[in-house]
Amino acid sequence: MKFKLRNQYITNVLIVIALLLSLIFAFTSSFYVQKLSGNTTDDNKKAIGTSNGKSLKIKEYVSKISDKLVAEVDINKEITSVITIEDNKYSSVIFNYESGEEINLESLITKEKQEEFWHKVKELLYLKYPKFIAEKLACNDGENVYYLKENELIIYYYNYTIEPMPKETLFLKVNYNEIKDYLNISVNLDSEYENEDGSKLDLNKKIIALTFDDGPGSYTQDLVDILNDNKAKATFFMLGKNIIKYPKTVQKVSDNGMEIGYHSYAHTNFKRQKLETIKSELDLSNEYLKNITGKTFELVRPPYGSLNDEIKNYLDVPFIFWNVDTEDWRHHDQKYLTDYVMNLVNDGDIILFHDIHKTSVEAMNSLLPLLYVNGYQVTTVSNLASSFGKTLNNKQIYRYFSR
Ligand code: NI
Repeated sequence: MKFKLRNQYITNVLIVIALLLSLIFAFTSSFYVQKLSGNTTDDNKKAIGTSNGKSLKIKEYVSKISDKLVAEVDINKEITSVITIEDNKYSSVIFNYESGEEINLESLITKEKQEEFWHKVKELLYLKYPKFIAEKLACNDGENVYYLKENELIIYYYNYTIEPMPKETLFLKVNYNEIKDYLNISVNLDSEYENEDGSKLDLNKKIIALTFDDGPGSYTQDLVDILNDNKAKATFFMLGKNIIKYPKTVQKVSDNGMEIGYHSYAHTNFKRQKLETIKSELDLSNEYLKNITGKTFELVRPPYGSLNDEIKNYLDVPFIFWNVDTEDWRHHDQKYLTDYVMNLVNDGDIILFHDIHKTSVEAMNSLLPLLYVNGYQVTTVSNLASSFGKTLNNKQIYRYFSR
């Protein structure tokens, strides 16, 4: 009995141990199975590879670069554009939305429309940037970063050799309206948009006026081209006698949005003329100008800057002087003129040149790009005044503007 009881006791203990062991086993194994099944679910998802139709590869990529992420843009569930920034430099990856495959920009452009696409980009580059920048970027031989946003494509341009080199990051905004016919994906089109136009003044940047006296002459047409190439405008203080001599040039100056002011009929010192003569020569010159451009002079710069109260009170015009005199009639040296202006120039300045000197016109080829990369916008005297919020009043003298 004792033995039996003892046996029974051992059996009971064994049963309990067995039960406990099986419980532990059951518990751990079920946990294990749960864990496994959890993995299996993930694996299943991976096998399908999408969440709401979007590839999980994109999610994985974004989680890896999340500290550098600028934006992740889905475009009509066709592509995803992921843009990141590191050390002030953008990079981008374009994904196929569904497959998560990386694709390049070219694959979004219809094969037979590639040339037209890049031609449009070139056109927009020339609208935004001066020629010395646009012509380099249009070569597409640097590093381009493509950021596809909701309504526009932004191209960032890196590693281009431009002389002089702009300090800020170069980029172009290409609205989808401009390229919709060349894309093989569907994009959102906004009803109103504006292309970036480099000839529009940015009031947050420095602005100066360039003025050219004593013309027009045989270099004036070239000067207009150089100004246009550099997104610059200028005021031309012309002589009446040269207006009749170069009517086509006057027309070109006017047609290209340049300003024309009066600089006397034949460069006579106003102080040595009768008031009536000054007035009759101005009237005659106004007639010449009106016949060509339909406009009359609104600004006057007296020859030699020679003016007295009598003349000032006699003529109903604003008088435009200058605060930077290049003395380009004395210095026929492109480099000297460029350096001289760059050393002195300040926001609001009115700079004096003469377009009758070849070197002065040639100097614009080096000066205007330097002004541009140093943040200066070059415009007419009237534009300068209005962008500084100033009205040009008759009988008053202006030498420069300050904010
Ligand atoms: Ni003069």
